[in-house]
Amino acid sequence: MSQQIIPTQHIVESTQQLLQEIAHDKLFILTDQHTSAHCLPQLNQLPAIAQAYHITIPSGDDHKHIRTLCHVWEELSAHGATRHSLLINVGGGMVTDLGGFAAATYKRGIHYINMPTTLLAMVDAAVGGKTGINLHALKNEIGAFCPADTVVICSHFLHTLDKENIASGFAEMLKHGLISTEEHWTRLMHFDLDKPDLDELQQLIMESIHTKEHIVKQDPTEQHIRKALNLGHTLGHAYETLAMRQEKPCLHGYAVAWGLIGELYLSHIREGFPTDKLRQTITYIKEVYGTPPFECRDYDALYELMQHDKKNVAGEIRFTLLGGIGDIYINRTANHDEIFEMLDFVREG
Ligand code: GLY
Repeated sequence: MSQQIIPTQHIVESTQQLLQEIAHDKLFILTDQHTSAHCLPQLNQLPAIAQAYHITIPSGDDHKHIRTLCHVWEELSAHGATRHSLLINVGGGMVTDLGGFAAATYKRGIHYINMPTTLLAMVDAAVGGKTGINLHALKNEIGAFCPADTVVICSHFLHTLDKENIASGFAEMLKHGLISTEEHWTRLMHFDLDKPDLDELQQLIMESIHTKEHIVKQDPTEQHIRKALNLGHTLGHAYETLAMRQEKPCLHGYAVAWGLIGELYLSHIREGFPTDKLRQTITYIKEVYGTPPFECRDYDALYELMQHDKKNVAGEIRFTLLGGIGDIYINRTANHDEIFEMLDFVREG
């Protein structure tokens, strides 16, 4: 289970070369309405892309379901896709997850390339081989581990991405920094998200991807160390679901950033995560993402949501915690009082 990662600032030339390298009979391009309007025109300069069969699906996580997937399968079938056809997914995590699952399942699997166009997809969704769709309200409930042949990383796609979505993707980069090395984490702490330099960002994205790949290679199907990538996500997912239920949805990375504050607090009291690094990370997160808008009356609901987390074992809430930067402890528990203290800390710490 490994995939080639190609960093480029020349997306047209790199795609042309890639298409020569990967043998295929027919080419299919999957976009959503947004990437079809904003990213495809650039790629269409390449005749092979302009002449390929284009499938466009509606944007947004609300459409990451079986009906959209059926539409992609039907389009592939109606337009003669064979086992030797190639699919290129151009979009954010919704497109790369759903398109990856379509490729994993169509005729028991065809080759595919991911061209992530959001920061979140570049550093997380499009790499590592997780593909899938939602089942009603259950996110990514149906899916398969099936890595793309190649992931093409071009930070120039990010020119059209708004500030909040850049910050959202950056939260997963902060997570990767925390589970890698002090050097990488320090570089992230000094990156100016208000005026992002896309060339510097491209380098940080590649470091981030290497951190993820290093972990995924050891444990592609998340039996043990891949759980390190869940740092910040036990609380983060619970808050994301609560916010959606309260009809004030928040971007995934904002929930993860606040989740990181909570889980670094638990790391501090349980595993001795150092105070100075805790403070520095919290200061950065609060400056960029603000304070999460949950209140004391939401604690029971958050606790209950954490009790339903997919990663729990024997009914116990499990966290990934750190003893320091890169010092990872998976499957850690915390008791009810510690979890409520953590929620106080996220709001006030
Ligand atoms: N998003 C976490 C993982 O790919 O395992």
